Amino acid sequence: MEIKVFENDSDLARCAADYFEETITAKPDAVLGLATGASPVETYKELIRRCKAGRISFKKVTTFNLDEYCDLPRDDKNSYYTFMRENLFDKIDIPAENVHIEDGNAADPDAECRAYDEKIKAAGRIDLQLLGIGTNGHIGFNEPAEAFTEGTFRIRLSESTVKANSRYFTDSAMPEYAVTMGIGSIMRAKRILLIATGAAKAEAIRNTVKGPISPACPASVLRLHPDAVLLLDAEAAALL
Ligand code: GLP
Repeated sequence: MEIKVFENDSDLARCAADYFEETITAKPDAVLGLATGASPVETYKELIRRCKAGRISFKKVTTFNLDEYCDLPRDDKNSYYTFMRENLFDKIDIPAENVHIEDGNAADPDAECRAYDEKIKAAGRIDLQLLGIGTNGHIGFNEPAEAFTEGTFRIRLSESTVKANSRYFTDSAMPEYAVTMGIGSIMRAKRILLIATGAAKAEAIRNTVKGPISPACPASVLRLHPDAVLLLDAEAAALL
């Protein structure tokens, strides 16, 4: 696992955007795995800038998002669908039909998860998967568990995730369930980029890099990936 530490968020975002640019330039119909949360926002801004400047185009790109809340209307301000539109999709040239996010309100969640896995499979391997990390070491919504997960599945969110993410739910209750790509789906990506910034992530990053490779810290599995890169600021890297 490669680790890069940056002095500020813009340098980190530029580096992350460089990986995207390299991937899309080499393969204009690349398949990208995308993440939500505060961590990727600066990177998305940089991708929007590069797209508007004509350096990159998403016209042939296909995207798969990691996760989505359950029991939250798709157009709710806190849905990941809304997040992705506001922070990326509405501002780049990607065709709507190339964008994939799990339906957290599907009548049959298991069927929705299987269908999502089939769509990823049909698109070929994910060329570049972007990740954030939860304070408990989760990636996507793969919470600390007894075993590493495989494909897309519905999960009950852990208490610490509800606590960490409820800051966004000022007008409504935070959902208790989410649908997420599994660890298996994430690990099949050709290259993985994980962004972590701020002191709140320092312990999760230490466990990821120096702790046992264990589903108790889901991100630790990335050490088994042949091309995983951690992009950190000094605060997130403080315990390494
Ligand atoms: C959520 C998302 C994760 C994300 C994590 C960290 O729980 N499901 O994909 O990585 O939060 O979020 P943030 O970047 O806002 O700290």
